[in-house]
Amino acid sequence: MIASTFRTAVVRIPGGPGSIEIIDVPLVAPGPGQVRVEIAAAAVNPVDLAVAGGVFHAMGLINQPEWTGLGWDFAGHVAAAGPGVGLAIGTRVAGMVGGFDRDFGTYAEQLIVPVGDVAIVPDGLDLIAASTVPLNGLTAAQILDLLGDAPAGGRLLVTGAAGAVGGYVAPLARSRGWQVTGLARAQDEAFVRGLGADFTTHGEPGWDAVADGAGLQEQALALVRDGGAFVGVKPNAEPAAERGIAIHAVVAHADGPRLAELLDRTTAGELPTRVHAVVPLDQVADAHRAVAKGGVRGRYVLTP
Ligand SMILES: NC(=O)c1ccc[n+]([C@@H]2O[C@H](COP(=O)([O-])OP(=O)(O)OC[C@H]3O[C@@H](n4cnc5c(N)ncnc54)[C@H](OP(=O)(O)O)[C@@H]3O)[C@@H](O)[C@H]2O)c1
Repeated sequence: MIASTFRTAVVRIPGGPGSIEIIDVPLVAPGPGQVRVEIAAAAVNPVDLAVAGGVFHAMGLINQPEWTGLGWDFAGHVAAAGPGVGLAIGTRVAGMVGGFDRDFGTYAEQLIVPVGDVAIVPDGLDLIAASTVPLNGLTAAQILDLLGDAPAGGRLLVTGAAGAVGGYVAPLARSRGWQVTGLARAQDEAFVRGLGADFTTHGEPGWDAVADGAGLQEQALALVRDGGAFVGVKPNAEPAAERGIAIHAVVAHADGPRLAELLDRTTAGELPTRVHAVVPLDQVADAHRAVAKGGVRGRYVLTP
């Protein structure tokens, strides 16, 4: 018999890792154009720590009456398909759920999403690794949409190049003609150079564009040349405009077809996948505490 409820991690009153609860919620059928995914893996991202810590509640961006769902990334199997969906039960898929203000998330046994938001996971890529791609791969691709193709000889500095976002921006930017330099900690030099990028621990000013994966904000903006471009990762806190620089902040959104390309490139070894540890959903609070300490390379991945 199929269970009528499933387990999911939420916060009622956000207060850091200790405020995360696992609760049971009713299982519902997918509607037209939707699939229900039985989640096999859900990556822990910095945004989840911020949600559990109440950052977005304090900004007035989350207004849930009972609880707030956690988790953006997922990979799993199609468990049920709504009317009009062509995916077979059991198909391996991955995807992301965007936005903070929701009572559900991917830290869960089950998830209902529009079929257009998922991509089939290629043979040769396991679901744990696949779950680390959607949010940060799509964020990087969408940063490149904002930056566009490089001008002739265009030089791009990627801050946080050893992180998840930065680690995707560097190779994707090279494909768009940018000469990429990654700014990262000294111990990350080999990883950054392995992305085909030059390496620095402290950028000098004068870059045509900066993609600020480390979230350094004004400090990173100061490195852009007059009239250049800055793309940040903090959409509600863009630095003030200065010196004719085009200032953008990425807002990651689901995009199944785009994710399919990223998963293909990951399977082909063109994009990195880094898993730090795989932990059961029950240990979500410990995973959040470990990520909060900083310095983690690769994702913690939760398994329900
Ligand atoms: N707007 C959106 O739609 C969106 C989407 C995805 C992510 N984000 C945001 O983007 C940011 C990055 O996410 P992520 O998953 O890539 O995080 P991550 O994996 O933790 O990567 C951040 C990297 O930046 C490095 N870093 C921080 N300060 C540095 C400095 N001063 N010099 C050199 N390196 C530095 C960190 O190193 P250490 O660990 O050693 O500090 C880490 O390697 C987060 O704030 C996240 O919330 C936004």
